[in-house]
Amino acid sequence: MQRFNDGQDWFFEKRFGMFVHWGLYAVPAWHEQIQWRRPMAKADYVKLVDQFNPTAFDPDAWLDVLQGAGMEYICLTTKHHDGFCMWDTAFTDYKITNTPYGKDVLAMLAEACHRRGVRLCLYYSCPDWHHPNSINFGGDHQLDQPNPGDEPDLLKYVAYVKSQITELCTQFGEISAFFWDIPPKINIPELNATLRELQPGIMINDRGFGPGDYSTPERHVPTGKAFSSPTEACQSVGRQSWGYREDEDYFSDLHLMQSIDRTMAMGGNYLLNVGPKADGTIDDGNARILAEIGRWFRTVRESYYEARPASHLIKNDECLLTRKENSLYAHFPKPLMSSGVVLNPLTCQPRRATLLNTGAEVRATVETVPSWCRSEPYLRISRIPINQLSTEVPVIRLDFDDLDQALANAGGQDGNEYIF
Ligand code: GLC
Repeated sequence: MQRFNDGQDWFFEKRFGMFVHWGLYAVPAWHEQIQWRRPMAKADYVKLVDQFNPTAFDPDAWLDVLQGAGMEYICLTTKHHDGFCMWDTAFTDYKITNTPYGKDVLAMLAEACHRRGVRLCLYYSCPDWHHPNSINFGGDHQLDQPNPGDEPDLLKYVAYVKSQITELCTQFGEISAFFWDIPPKINIPELNATLRELQPGIMINDRGFGPGDYSTPERHVPTGKAFSSPTEACQSVGRQSWGYREDEDYFSDLHLMQSIDRTMAMGGNYLLNVGPKADGTIDDGNARILAEIGRWFRTVRESYYEARPASHLIKNDECLLTRKENSLYAHFPKPLMSSGVVLNPLTCQPRRATLLNTGAEVRATVETVPSWCRSEPYLRISRIPINQLSTEVPVIRLDFDDLDQALANAGGQDGNEYIF
């Protein structure tokens, strides 16, 4: 995977971000698409505007949670499918500054992000269930029919989108990525061109009105050894909703760690979502999950940053490898079945093997194991304290004096073309 060699390269350096789904739907606290999924008539949904008053919103508190999780960028839903805008746009009255709260929450978040060096990314939905010119004829995430009084008009709607993305790219400082949602299946090159002109260095995802710079597998991690193009997987802390849900079914910390580890070991980025409550705070349950992920992530972080996928070096599918300089990192995104694993066909002897989770040394030897009858000796990592590690993903660093030489001597080579 080639770097871009320009401002877009931040994407390869900041690997972990926080997705935030926040809007009117935090008030009923059921799902961010309640208007469509339950459904709820537009006439009822718009009444939420008068109830949305997030007086406890403090962008620094969000960023404390983000940084506690080891994350380095944030992606906020500026306009979700409901069409409600979280900034003081000049192009609709359906916006945060017309709630009792009255403040521009995107402007507040942008100020805090730029002050604290957290990269700001913006989510924007292509479907819109409120704007009179938007397209709602029962397509993907469209209402079955236009709202009474609407005048669907693609050209006018695209003009509206263009005006809004121009605001978003000119009023909030540097925007690091633009996350279009729900591909409209029409290519309108001027929209991405506008983003690039106003924000050189912006990364644009592949869900918009044209091809983008990175793909966004959602709620699952593809299998395989490495991504061949820039990728950012996204997942929420709960399995039912991205917006705040009072009665959410939360994923286990381990499930999220496994998903993060697999994505990053394959060279991808990870966007983990929380849905703040209607009062503007991140719920304690969500915050606890992020804190626990962060505790683990800090111990294993070095195995992803500036490292490149190296799983092509082994056949064992219990394990993924990354490589940085003279170290290989062995990742176990599935629970380890035994306290030792054989990384065939590697035959090079590391100087040291360290379990990053605890800092403890483990054993790494090139040897023949009895279950591999009459086989060649291979690198075996053993004495891994698996029962102490049942709630997190283990990552083991193998340090070599000269890894290229060791691989060459062992008859292998690191033909990895991934450049990180
Ligand atoms: C899907 C959902 C949407 C959510 C998004 C996050 O597209 O429809 O509600 O915002 O995934 O990637």
